Amino acid sequence: MRVQYGGVYIYTSPMFLPIDPEFNKEILIKSFQYFQGRGFYSTEHQPVSENLFTKDGEKWSILRTKFTPMFTPSKLKGMFNLMIEATKPMEKYIKEHHNKQMPLNAKDCATRFTTDVTATCVFGFESNSFLDDILLKQLNEILVKSTRLLRLLFCIALPKVANFLRIPLLPPQETDLVCKNLEESVKYRRENNITKTDFLQLLIDLKNNSVINLTELKAQCLLFLIGGYETTAATISFMLLELAHNQDIQEKLRTEINEILPSYGGEICYDAVMDMKYLEMVLCETLRKHPAAPFLLRKCVKDFTINDITIERNTTIVIPTIGLHYDPEYYPKPDVFDPERFSDTNKNKIVPYTYLPFGEGPRNCIGDRLGKQQVKVAVVSFIQQFKIKLNPEVTFPLEYDTFMILTPKRDILLDIELV
Ligand code: HEM
Repeated sequence: MRVQYGGVYIYTSPMFLPIDPEFNKEILIKSFQYFQGRGFYSTEHQPVSENLFTKDGEKWSILRTKFTPMFTPSKLKGMFNLMIEATKPMEKYIKEHHNKQMPLNAKDCATRFTTDVTATCVFGFESNSFLDDILLKQLNEILVKSTRLLRLLFCIALPKVANFLRIPLLPPQETDLVCKNLEESVKYRRENNITKTDFLQLLIDLKNNSVINLTELKAQCLLFLIGGYETTAATISFMLLELAHNQDIQEKLRTEINEILPSYGGEICYDAVMDMKYLEMVLCETLRKHPAAPFLLRKCVKDFTINDITIERNTTIVIPTIGLHYDPEYYPKPDVFDPERFSDTNKNKIVPYTYLPFGEGPRNCIGDRLGKQQVKVAVVSFIQQFKIKLNPEVTFPLEYDTFMILTPKRDILLDIELV
């Protein structure tokens, strides 16, 4: 009989590891009321760490209802042009590398791009990360310090002790700085009667309608940073890596871009990007091979019995997304990068609940479309203008830096040619 689950202890806390798609379906969807928590850590001593990702129970449910309308396709369309603007300094940066015949560091370039998008869409100011990396450094500090492995594991495994010790989730100094910038943006818009089509504006509207308060507004902006910034940058880096490594796929993607853009006036626009089917297939395969979030977390909130086993209340559930994505039973030759797995014909053959790059069920990624949109804008603008090859310094097998988010451990160096 096929093994359906396993388990580990972190400190004294038990963790249940389902590895059967049926278990995943049960936990993520069918019996969601038993597994509604994520069991992450936040503390009332740092109110800005209390957000949609970290909260559980009633508080999570209220926040999810408040924020879901912010992620509709029409709201995302409103942010599209801001993303396009952010590609311009990126293009200049790549051209400079080309002119100086220097390899381009894909990871660094993707991070600067997502920093600029995060700055304009979320914090309401221009960061010019391709020229100066002050914000980049602040955001990275917040991410690096808040996801330090041992400290985070301690907080997740023993949240009451961590709360008693007042261990903050986010590094206070850098977080305060970013929050101060944010307050200034909100104030500036209010005093100058400015309205925009960005994420910050949607939050300001919720605040003006008394749906959320200023602390909740700041908390959600920081969440965008923690949930969306590094995941998106990592996905862009991995997609460029695979395109550089698979020249035929890169050429096919470029052909699609060149065929579709003329019907939309030659410029990258929302509808043109939505029309690019091969782009979607390449992105889906990138997220299969390199899921930025390599596992999903749930917390069992009341005892639950399935088949012959009882999962006890307070048990943490870890669904191993990356393990499923590399299981040859579901994805033959899993090491091969093959976007055809996601063609119209083939994608219906994928076993449900074995492909989980954005999670599943009521607690799935609320920013999935936004994240995908950002990756697509960056990659289309890149591939339309530049041919990329892997620099000989990039070696395989690829090494990952991982705990919460899967990122490439070493630089992904690309050699650039103009198209
Ligand atoms: C390629 C980019 C992204 C990837 C791969 C990704 C992946 C994920 C995954 C796997 C989860 C956990 C889902 C679950 O437990 O079932 C998640 C949750 C979440 N993500 Fe994303 N994400 C991305 C981009 C974004 C962006 C741009 C945002 C912007 C706000 C975002 C916001 C969130 C939030 C708020 C949650 C928690 C949802 C909840 O608990 O209700 N993500 N993401």
